[in-house]
Amino acid sequence: MTSLTVRNISKSFGNYTALDNINIEAKSGEFLVLLGPSGCGKSTLLNMIAGLEKVPEGQVLIGDEVVNELDPKDRDIAMVFQSYALYPSMTVRQNMSFGMRVRKVPAAEQKVAIDRVSKILQLDQMLDRRPSQLSGGQRQRVAMGRALVRDPKIFLFDEPLSNLDAKLRVEMRTEIKKLHRKLGVTIVYVTHDQIEAMTLATKVVVMRQARIQQIGTPQEIYDRPENLYVAGFIGSPPMNLIPGILSETNGVVSVNLVSEGGTIAVPLGPVTAAQRPFIGKPIIFGARPETITEAGMLHEGAVPFEFEGKIEVVEPTGSDNLVIIQLGGREAIARLRPGAGVVGNKMLLSIDTKRALLFDPATEQRIG
Ligand SMILES: Nc1ncnc2c1ncn2[C@@H]1O[C@H](COP(=O)(O)OP(=O)(O)O)[C@@H](O)[C@H]1O
Ligand SMILES: [Mg+2]
Repeated sequence: MTSLTVRNISKSFGNYTALDNINIEAKSGEFLVLLGPSGCGKSTLLNMIAGLEKVPEGQVLIGDEVVNELDPKDRDIAMVFQSYALYPSMTVRQNMSFGMRVRKVPAAEQKVAIDRVSKILQLDQMLDRRPSQLSGGQRQRVAMGRALVRDPKIFLFDEPLSNLDAKLRVEMRTEIKKLHRKLGVTIVYVTHDQIEAMTLATKVVVMRQARIQQIGTPQEIYDRPENLYVAGFIGSPPMNLIPGILSETNGVVSVNLVSEGGTIAVPLGPVTAAQRPFIGKPIIFGARPETITEAGMLHEGAVPFEFEGKIEVVEPTGSDNLVIIQLGGREAIARLRPGAGVVGNKMLLSIDTKRALLFDPATEQRIG
């Protein structure tokens, strides 16, 4: 168990920049998730941490030690890939002990490790089966078992669940989370799935096109995205991002949005220093679907602003009704109680202005 530091790492393939000045710190015991769309550089970064890819610029530190020049096998790291890469002709036991056999670990020690790990992963009843006799989830657990028997300092996971069907993926997600809690190990986990990132991480690193967009806890990233990209990438359905104009009356700042029945001015409280330069200018107003709901239904602590919306579409999810209304010349999604909202009807809705965000349309950065 140890900390991990990535310092000023850049990497190019020819003249293509795969990573651009990456800085990350993972504390000991952290569950760090690298999140971003395909091609943004996640695997390249993970491979550099593992030692499978050269580090031409910057440093990787495991604990206090710079490991740039260390072989993968000397880094005390275990990696689980998307393709489990199990040996089909070997049993579960043989697959899990393969690395130990190569390293000539004494047989008694191998047995202790296999017993320990197979119990944790509930594979102890199937140690003599071959991969073909296992389900997808069980194979995934064998791949993890192979990493766990080594008792490494850091675990690296590269999209380990993306080959599983949706139900199994959710189950394995829970298993990995339990495992992290039980073992307290440091994990770096790559995924393009924002739900996976939100549910697993103690810290999320949002990446886009070779660059870090934001680092924070899942809640920080959800509540206070640094920019429009993060705001739109995290959350499902996504945050409503609505163009408006910022205005000020008697020290109170409002966003003017085009709505059903004319422009509405959504008050946001006393004008802040960050907001002041944008008075009279276009901004992007950000509101998550759950912060727009039936009037009177916002939770305690909210600062509601009521307005009239015309329901254009109702999408029941079972747990709630997502409805589409027109706001600021865009379609906006509001989250109502199940059964609420009738298509074609006007309805009094309420925005929690306390949770609303503002973005600069030019720089795409959050204002304030
Ligand atoms: N060995 C390589 N040679 C050339 N380009 C590469 C190589 N490895 C990765 N890339 C490119 O670098 C970018 C980042 O790749 P990768 O780290 O695999 O992204 P991710 O894991 O986020 O999907 C991609 O555009 C990919 O095509
Ligand atoms: Mg990848």
